[in-house]
Amino acid sequence: MVAARANGRGNELITLDDVSKHYPNGTEALRDVDLRIESGDFVFLVGSSGAGKSTLIRLLIRDELPSSGRVWVDGQDVVRMRRSAVPKLRRRVGVVFQDFKLLPRRTVAENVGFALLVTGHSDEEAREETERALSLVGLAERRDHFPDQLSGGEQQRAAMARALVSRPKILIADEPTGNLDPVTSWEIIKLLIRVNELGTTLVMATHNAEIVNALRRRVVHLDRGMVVRDEREGLYAA
Ligand SMILES: Nc1ncnc2c1ncn2[C@@H]1O[C@H](COP(=O)(O)OP(=O)(O)OP(=O)(O)O)[C@@H](O)[C@H]1O
Ligand SMILES: [Mg+2]
Repeated sequence: MVAARANGRGNELITLDDVSKHYPNGTEALRDVDLRIESGDFVFLVGSSGAGKSTLIRLLIRDELPSSGRVWVDGQDVVRMRRSAVPKLRRRVGVVFQDFKLLPRRTVAENVGFALLVTGHSDEEAREETERALSLVGLAERRDHFPDQLSGGEQQRAAMARALVSRPKILIADEPTGNLDPVTSWEIIKLLIRVNELGTTLVMATHNAEIVNALRRRVVHLDRGMVVRDEREGLYAA
């Protein structure tokens, strides 16, 4: 059994304790990172290219393991958890990426519902949850389209529906607006705000200073693998 964290910090959903990450080639991507994110937070992870944002995100979904330090997500020790527990972790932590990563030969609805079907939900349950997620992102009418028939913004909304279909506690977005024009970027940001307001904890890595500075949320700034600033209602001077 993986021990739950018994520290009394009831609302803490993500905890990194003294985390460092060296890749096998010697790159030190994270150094001595301490970070606590509470349930309901909206956190921007900023910093220049190579600062370690994506590496930190990979640790949260156990795509990578830290070289040292501890990582807890939703009360679970992500480093020591069994490999068999990883799929369950990834249902509680939805992720969207800059390049959407949709399956090209599957429709929008199939992309969204796929994870539910492979984790043993009934067809009907999967259909209902898929419709709910598509409605949430405003994409119900595109349900039978293929990804290459969608605009970039629609593809990102489909990716968000896929990430949200299992009702995760945490949604992580790694540069979700990186491939989108400014107007479409704002549509995605508004949707992320809505998802956060509905109770999902949000962590978003971005270079986009305009968005960060307009929203005035918590800003965690990484520089060469270290947290150099962590401010509520923060700004980002890129
Ligand atoms: N799989 C890997 N193997 C070796 N080095 C890696 C690997 N992934 C990332 N790195 C290195 O680790 C450092 C941090 O990379 P990371 O991708 O976390 O940065 P980032 O802040 O997400 O950058 P960007 O804004 O460009 O996405 C960089 O020096 C990068 O080259
Ligand atoms: Mg990155």
